[in-house]
Amino acid sequence: MTDPFIIETNRLTRDFKSVRAVNELTLSVASGELFGLVGPDGAGKTTTLRLLAGLLDITDGEASVLGFDLKEKAESIKSHTGYMAQQFSLYGELSVMENLQFFAELFDVDQKDSAERTERLLTFAGLTEFKERRAANLSGGMQKKLALACTLIHEPELLLLDEPTTGVDPISRREFWNILTELHLQGTTILVSTPYMDEADRCSRVGLMYAGKLVECDSPQKIREKLEGEIIEIQPEDWQKALKTVTGLNGVREVQTYGESIHLLVDSGKRRLPEIERVLRKAKVPYRNIRIAPARMEEAFISLIRKLEA
Ligand SMILES: Nc1ncnc2c1ncn2[C@@H]1O[C@H](COP(=O)(O)OP(=O)(O)OP(=O)(O)O)[C@@H](O)[C@H]1O
Ligand SMILES: [Mg+2]
Repeated sequence: MTDPFIIETNRLTRDFKSVRAVNELTLSVASGELFGLVGPDGAGKTTTLRLLAGLLDITDGEASVLGFDLKEKAESIKSHTGYMAQQFSLYGELSVMENLQFFAELFDVDQKDSAERTERLLTFAGLTEFKERRAANLSGGMQKKLALACTLIHEPELLLLDEPTTGVDPISRREFWNILTELHLQGTTILVSTPYMDEADRCSRVGLMYAGKLVECDSPQKIREKLEGEIIEIQPEDWQKALKTVTGLNGVREVQTYGESIHLLVDSGKRRLPEIERVLRKAKVPYRNIRIAPARMEEAFISLIRKLEA
């Protein structure tokens, strides 16, 4: 019987001297999942991914990846996984093509497969017309796509991607995610860390890490539902004035601005909407629109973190 879980950890722990970077993390990722790992800076995302890639020794607990025990067989994991580091390195002096060939050799891909895969990955990543260009001269977004292509050259069953789109423009991010979605549909299991909540929303499941622990783990929809309260969205004419007026009102837990609009996290939308409308009218703060809006991943995330920090 094949194990349905590609990744299974039980109280996985990793210390760096006095710092407990990963603290009794228990996580299961099933075959074919597109799993998103989110969490604030220093939460332990990179350390977790490096442990799962077999690049770091575990301090305590247990973990198996693709059936290999991390304590004994960490070395065997490498040829079956594609790990893309947060600070990945391409060879700037080498062309796109040469980078792919380099990684093919590194992973012992035979020459016939390598030629065929290189062409396919170039097409897949939209890099065919840039194949002779030096990696150093690619845009940031194209470099990330090349790094992903290099990560895929040995056709790994599992992808471990550490913030693969950080700092990339929204269009390139979308293109990158279209590639990930395609890989996901082809059955590749993907564990990806991201600071972007729209990306977390595209995952089949999301794990929220905080201080080395997994504090939430669910579908994006369920995570959004965990947000206690509702969002009232206001589109004011003068948002600074509106902001001042609504901050601190009864039942308003948080105030966030999104471009021209203001989002209030309130205890009850139905109850607070008429009250807030009254206050705005009374203070003569004009607005174009006010409504109860669905919570976004970002709001759920910030609210969960605030609760943990309280
Ligand atoms: N090689 C190391 N030596 C010492 N401490 C480390 C090392 N790597 C990570 N840490 C510490 O472990 C903790 C977790 O770091 P990690 O890089 O895993 O977090 P992260 O969630 O990936 O953060 P970021 O979002 O900033 O990438 C931090 O306190 C960090 O300073
Ligand atoms: Mg990191």
